Amino acid sequence: MSIKISPSILSADFAKMGEDVAKLSKWGADWVHCDVMDGVFCPNITFGIPMIKAIRKYTDLPLDVHLMIVKPERYVDKFLDAGADIITFHPEVSESVETIVDTVHRHGKLVGLVLNPNIEVKSIEKYIDMIDLVMLMGVYPGFSAQKFIESTMDKISQLKALIGERNVMIEFDGGVSVDNIQEMAKRGLDIAVSGSYVFGAQDPAKAIRTLKEF
Ligand code: DX5
Ligand code: ZN
Repeated sequence: MSIKISPSILSADFAKMGEDVAKLSKWGADWVHCDVMDGVFCPNITFGIPMIKAIRKYTDLPLDVHLMIVKPERYVDKFLDAGADIITFHPEVSESVETIVDTVHRHGKLVGLVLNPNIEVKSIEKYIDMIDLVMLMGVYPGFSAQKFIESTMDKISQLKALIGERNVMIEFDGGVSVDNIQEMAKRGLDIAVSGSYVFGAQDPAKAIRTLKEF
């Protein structure tokens, strides 16, 4: 089974977002990673519900919406109504993980928890039976093209062991490139997010192929 690639539109051209998103399926992408930042949880402000609604018209690929916002429960319904297919959020800034999981499942969509580099895998053990995926961060949220934090690699193996036979996917976000994807795959990765490696490439379709074939 090959890895799915979810290019992050944070590295796309914001002035030509529709065009860039429309190209993703031709390039061989599987999901579209949308980085929503509120300037409070992390030191950057990107975009929100109107952007999800706008790009929904330009692709049939699943929209993988990464909420880097405090109290995401306030907005989850609205992101789902705008067209999100996968919602991931950070439990340490959420008031009720269970409520968010229920809301997403009631809409028939997928939900996952995101772990920052300093948050331990075992901290989400109590939620593992209710979620569809876990996303590990290889950088601290805020910007694309940051340096990959090597110590996060081992968390893939820890998470794989925690998941065991359950049907829970592993996604990785931040610093993914041809230099580390093979090792990630070996440890059990299912979906890789890639911002700068794909959008910064001369030939993004080739970059996606390279990530899938290592
Ligand atoms: C980090 C974002 C990532 C980021 C990935 O704050 O959540 O999705 O855009 O970009 P690269 O692949 O360039 O590290
Ligand atoms: Zn992200």
